[in-house]
Amino acid sequence: MQKSSLALSQIFEPIRADLEKVDVEFGRHVQSQIELIPRIGQYIRTSGGKRIRPALLLMASRLSGYQGDRAILYAAVVEFIHTATLVHDDIIDDSDLRRGRLAVHSRWGNDITVLLGDYLYIKSMALALTHDELEIIRQLCDVTLRMIEGELYQLTKNGDADITEDQHFDIMRRKTAYLFGGCAQIGGMLNRVSSEHEQALREYGFNLGMAFQLVDDLLDFTGDAEAVGKPIGSDLREGKVTLPLIHLLRHETDGAGSRIVREVIASRAVTKETWHELLHLLKEHKSIDYAQRKAEDFAETAKKPLYAFSSSAERDALLALPDYVLSRDR
Ligand code: IPE
Ligand code: IPE
Ligand code: MG
Ligand code: MG
Repeated sequence: MQKSSLALSQIFEPIRADLEKVDVEFGRHVQSQIELIPRIGQYIRTSGGKRIRPALLLMASRLSGYQGDRAILYAAVVEFIHTATLVHDDIIDDSDLRRGRLAVHSRWGNDITVLLGDYLYIKSMALALTHDELEIIRQLCDVTLRMIEGELYQLTKNGDADITEDQHFDIMRRKTAYLFGGCAQIGGMLNRVSSEHEQALREYGFNLGMAFQLVDDLLDFTGDAEAVGKPIGSDLREGKVTLPLIHLLRHETDGAGSRIVREVIASRAVTKETWHELLHLLKEHKSIDYAQRKAEDFAETAKKPLYAFSSSAERDALLALPDYVLSRDR
């Protein structure tokens, strides 16, 4: 782990005021006469999300020389999309905790949460339609559809210990990386940068997103539940076989890991002893290292396209973000 990376608040310093406006915007757009909507909206808004996607959009727009206020609006849009996904995802994954608090469905039940997620999705598009920027709206629809495809594809692979690395990477691209890429690209689109610059921003965001999801999956083995805000080991218990396990199952010769994985998937539970045994195997076969290295590769790849832009505080911030992602504990 790289210990020298900056804290997220330091990286976001150039856009701090804008991010505060995004929060206000978020709050404004969960207003409704149906009292449950602002109540749950407020619960989500104040639950301590990292705001990486809106920050990415804002910093990319400022890097591109865009000065106007529309970046705030689209930043709120991507946070709405992300939030909608999370509330639905926690129902699908049967996860009771999110950001260290009860997940929305654990507090209000599935019926309300499904509708609240629907509301957030459509609200995001309604918000995006405030301006006549068809290309941006197309982009938002595109990455959101891919994300839902990613969640669906992941479900079809749920409980499958034979999932391949390629299939797993396809899931990660869809469920996480394209949205990150879209956030960065939209930042550039706001100032009508050249298609090369748009492409550079998209590549940056995409690779950052891949590193981000790889680390999310790693934290499920190596993280601290309190910091992460969700229980450790959930992925496997939920039937999700992520990269460290894919690597282990491919490299072990005696089938010990495979037996554990299949047993946990079948019972959806794991004892402390078995979990430690699995962690030991992952270490022994350097499977954690392998996934960590992949995350580092994506983080490095993310930085390169940024050199198409001249030096600025925003570029420095965007260059620091991949290192933060690698060292993050939440
Ligand atoms: C969680 O995203 C879902 C993944 C893509 C792994 P974040 O880690 O960005 O969630 P919050 O918004 O900070 O809680
Ligand atoms: C989150 O994926 C949902 C999307 C990225 C679409 P995960 O299921 O891995 O995220 P957590 O672990 O619940 O935050
Ligand atoms: Mg989940
Ligand atoms: Mg996860």
